[in-house]
Amino acid sequence: MDFAATLEGFKNNTAEVDDRFCRDVVKGLSRTQKELPCRYFYDARGSALFEAITRLPEYYPTRTETEILRSCAEDLVADIADGDLFVEFGSGSSLKTELLLDRVCGRVVYVPIDVSEAALADAIVRLAVRYPELEIRPLVADFSDLAALPGDLAGQRAVGFFPGSTIGNLAPEDAGRLLSRFKRVLGKEGQLIIGVDLKKSPVTLVRAYDDAAGVTAAFNLNLLTRINRELGGTFDLASFQHEAIYNSEAGRIEMHLVSRRAQDVKVCGRPFHFREGETIHTENSYKYAAAEFRALAAKAGWTVKRVWTDDNDLFGVFALG
Ligand code: AVJ
Repeated sequence: MDFAATLEGFKNNTAEVDDRFCRDVVKGLSRTQKELPCRYFYDARGSALFEAITRLPEYYPTRTETEILRSCAEDLVADIADGDLFVEFGSGSSLKTELLLDRVCGRVVYVPIDVSEAALADAIVRLAVRYPELEIRPLVADFSDLAALPGDLAGQRAVGFFPGSTIGNLAPEDAGRLLSRFKRVLGKEGQLIIGVDLKKSPVTLVRAYDDAAGVTAAFNLNLLTRINRELGGTFDLASFQHEAIYNSEAGRIEMHLVSRRAQDVKVCGRPFHFREGETIHTENSYKYAAAEFRALAAKAGWTVKRVWTDDNDLFGVFALG
């Protein structure tokens, strides 16, 4: 299979990307409550820091979801039929996927979708070695604005996979819209296996986003390092502090960068003022009670067929149909 040819033609125009980054940052920093889109966390260093987060003792989601996928894999793949497309939204390194591919690799077409061509290429090479019989149809795309699968794949029965509680980055209305979009992409007969972080004690939640070793703090602050490097920013890193709080009304963890003093910063040639204690809101991570997620899915046209959780009800894997 010629993956290079498949991936060619999707190459990002770097100038265009920088321009969008600049516009998003200027727009976010111009708001009364300053904010930055969390998707910009993931440059090379940010991705490495996130990997480190997933191994922290306090960060339970990755470990717990992996445990659930491992122990329930047999049940999870029971409704995947021979010849189905197995579509992963934001596949990244496709690591968790192996837990399911181990069981279905000889009878599905794997469609990993990711914005990062490099991540896709790495994953495909690894999977091609591990599963010589697996047909892989990679797609370089942003799953959040994907309208349909490419022509020859459209109309086939498809099972989606969206692990990692990535859905938690979206406000419930947007999460609902994304679930509806997935329904359109996957079709009438479609199914979706989705990982969702569950509501729990705020102490446990805040610890997961403010670890003792300071890895999440470094991850959050790296956004400013990236802005300094790519957008000619003048952020003084020592003058900002990581903060994670649980907003119980909204049911979400919020990450902020708090200005330790009054200061002026330039980004993209524009000045921005920070009062002492003023924050940049950098991420939301919504948590759902199982019943809340069921209601959200129902509004988006899905029915929850099954839910798998760990013994402590920290994390849920939902099968929607
Ligand atoms: C990748 C969005 C699921 O919200 O838990 C981890 C990102 N941010 N620590 C999450 C994250 C800080 C993570 N998601």
